[in-house]
Amino acid sequence: SSTGNKHKGKHLPPLIPYTVPFIGSMLDFGLRPINFMLESRKKYGDVFSFVFWGGRMTVLLGPEGNNFFFNMKLADANAEEAYKSLTVPVFGPDVVYDVENGILMEQKKFVKEALTTAAFQAYVGYIQEEVQGYLDEKWTKTSAREDIGHGIAELTIRTAARCLLGKNIRNKLDDTVADAYADLDRGFTPLNMLFTWLPLPYFINRDRAHVRLRQIFLDALQERKTNVDELDHDMMGSLMKCTYRDGTKLSESAVACIMIALLLAGQHTSSTTTSWLMLYLADDAKLQEDLLKEQVEALLGDPSAPTSNLPPLEFDHLKKLPLLEACIKEILRIRPPLIAAMRKVTRDVVFNGYTIPAGDTIIGSPCISQLDETLYPEPEKFDPYRFYKKADPGASAAGDNSEWTFADSYDTKGAKSSYLPFGAGRHRCIGEGFAYLQIKMIMSTIIRNFKFELPVDPVTKKRIFPDRDFTSLVVMPTKPTDIVYTRRT
Ligand code: HEM
Repeated sequence: SSTGNKHKGKHLPPLIPYTVPFIGSMLDFGLRPINFMLESRKKYGDVFSFVFWGGRMTVLLGPEGNNFFFNMKLADANAEEAYKSLTVPVFGPDVVYDVENGILMEQKKFVKEALTTAAFQAYVGYIQEEVQGYLDEKWTKTSAREDIGHGIAELTIRTAARCLLGKNIRNKLDDTVADAYADLDRGFTPLNMLFTWLPLPYFINRDRAHVRLRQIFLDALQERKTNVDELDHDMMGSLMKCTYRDGTKLSESAVACIMIALLLAGQHTSSTTTSWLMLYLADDAKLQEDLLKEQVEALLGDPSAPTSNLPPLEFDHLKKLPLLEACIKEILRIRPPLIAAMRKVTRDVVFNGYTIPAGDTIIGSPCISQLDETLYPEPEKFDPYRFYKKADPGASAAGDNSEWTFADSYDTKGAKSSYLPFGAGRHRCIGEGFAYLQIKMIMSTIIRNFKFELPVDPVTKKRIFPDRDFTSLVVMPTKPTDIVYTRRT
């Protein structure tokens, strides 16, 4: 068997019992991963293994497990082997997991360096324009029911396209780009990792979609060369100027592929997070009012000033919205879009006295420590005030909220943390700042224009709140994801 004699004499982590060979715990992990990991952690501790599709998976949990997982040496484990069957056909050649780690690190640095304060200042304007445009176009009634999952996904792609790809491609979004993107996206599912050998139609579609999207981006690059708007702070424009440390220029094909990777990495993560936040806020009218008040106080200096006086948001305002920030932080604690990071072990390593053998796929899952009841009382409760405290209760009268800080007990610095929705170490997310900016802008623009609540089931009379759908790459809310909005007057 896959777990048997070849590891004789090694003190392996406890193995979860299973009845069907080869399949092992695949269904448990596939269909109810969070409960499976929470329950297994109670029984076996921070490290345990299970059989999945003929291979061994080993899970590392808790702050110690997080730290071990995210800080492993390159010689011991790598991400490429775990992710490439899924990502390389989608992102394309010579980028991300199709290159050695050192090159990925340089590519991430290029992207990070493009996300300057000047760029973020420009993004605030672009995003505001997109969100307001969307609301003016789609949320036209005084009150109506809307599929928020669909709406937020649309808003996220419009805003990301404008900021990352630039004005030209944003303007083509409605026709060619959206279709190619949607086809490519359908090929970006966990199924692809298991059934890479199946000639399923969507693999063919996926590969064609990659070629189409890459060509659209390459054409846009050519256009940019002759018609550069220096004032446009999009990501693609910045990447066109990047050079590796050895002097080689980042190729045009690689620029196009990095853009594809950024779009896919940023779309569902950000969009799902915003949808969950909308749903939790829809269930809490008071919190919506608190968020509106925070905006009014931060921008107008007077919490009782009329909402209609609110000026457009600027980059500097966003720092003065700590309650909104705490809401995003809390939603990423209870509903993080990514619940399992993976690596392939290439050399035996020891954790907590157990040998994790080469060949294992290891899973890091900070979402489990984020739901640990000893660290976060009532862990399933959405309570942004956990991350929010006031040093001096009288101090915000002047409208300066800078003394609002996050509670110290939830230290997020370093990898040995219970709270890591963006990962840690060499593979840590570079999109956190952008995601926060995008989510803050979308939420604050909606909140100043609308109130919203959950629809009520006509039979049970209960408010309809979605469950988690674990079948896609990010954990989305199950359908229907409706809210009922009412325009503020
Ligand atoms: C990596 C989460 C948004 C680009 C990661 C990782 C996590 C994560 C957990 C680490 C994966 C690992 O260790 O295997 C999130 C969440 C987001 C978000 C929760 C939004 C709420 C974005 C956005 C972008 C982006 C908007 C692009 C603009 C990346 C990139 C990596 C990454 C390039 C590096 C992958 C690597 O080094 O292997 N993200 N992400 N992410 N993310 Fe994000």
